[in-house]
Amino acid sequence: MFELIEKLVNVYGPSGREDLVADTIEKLVKAHVDTITRDNLGNLICEKKGTAKAPKRIMLSAHMDHIGFIVVAVEKEGYLRVMPVGGISLNVSRTRHVSFGNGVQGVIVQEPVREGETPAMKHMFIDIGAKDQEEALAMVQLGDMAVYSNDCFRLGQHRVAAPAMDDRIACALLVSVLTALPAKTKNTIVAVFSTQEEVGCRGSKTAAFRTDPDIGIALDVTANGDTPETRLPAVKLGEGVAVKIMDRGSISNPELVKELLAAGEKAGVPTQREVLPFGATDAMSMQTTRAGVKVCTLSIPCRYVHSACEVIDLRDVEAAEKLLLTYLK
Ligand code: CO
Ligand code: ZN
Repeated sequence: MFELIEKLVNVYGPSGREDLVADTIEKLVKAHVDTITRDNLGNLICEKKGTAKAPKRIMLSAHMDHIGFIVVAVEKEGYLRVMPVGGISLNVSRTRHVSFGNGVQGVIVQEPVREGETPAMKHMFIDIGAKDQEEALAMVQLGDMAVYSNDCFRLGQHRVAAPAMDDRIACALLVSVLTALPAKTKNTIVAVFSTQEEVGCRGSKTAAFRTDPDIGIALDVTANGDTPETRLPAVKLGEGVAVKIMDRGSISNPELVKELLAAGEKAGVPTQREVLPFGATDAMSMQTTRAGVKVCTLSIPCRYVHSACEVIDLRDVEAAEKLLLTYLK
């Protein structure tokens, strides 16, 4: 699993620029599904037909995009002014290493720094080592996007840190579920690797409309409540996959929650009940498509979400995989 995670977190793919991630995933899953489609938003939609007379359609969604910065202006000295793409925290962005899709490297800097004050976007710039505007514009263009640079490493025995763990960890989980499923399943499985989640769950919206599921399960990370100053949500790293009851974007279907918790029990893996006072997942857009869909989110607990070091525990990913395989079989 670590190798697969490492492979997926290291692919460039901010919101709206997910093609390389989709290419990588397509190669990994194509032998295990019946059809693969890409829609106009770049969603990678993989369908495995069910064998039942009237199979239910179960959509599983894991988003491929992650947060980044977009170039909006270039100063005459060659510094890039940027805007966030998705929920960037400026506090954790100071003096980070960032990379553009074409390989250009940079450092994101805040100036002036006033201790104790929340940084403002207008005080941030990216230094790409250009001597002036002309040289900078030969390296990047307005509209190019940068992300936190690849840095995937193990932490202790069970944990892994990387930028883009949100949500490539769920992409890895979904790839691994698709490859482990038996050749025939009763219900139809629609695995969607979605786009533009970080800017408002846009990809899953069109994917859910197109694929018309009966049940929708988003696979995503959730925040933790087990660091010194954080007590909510009541979710701990390494204590199992979290089954979401509610967040700001969706209220999970109570029966589906029960079924997923029961599948966890049957699979013999630990689960946690999750109530998140903020955030949203692809479940939000799936829930209200067409005439409505029963949704839930399975979450991988993650520390320091939306930073350059998002930390997960491999045991939680394993629990999620076993739960899903039990549920889908
Ligand atoms: Co996110
Ligand atoms: Zn996410």
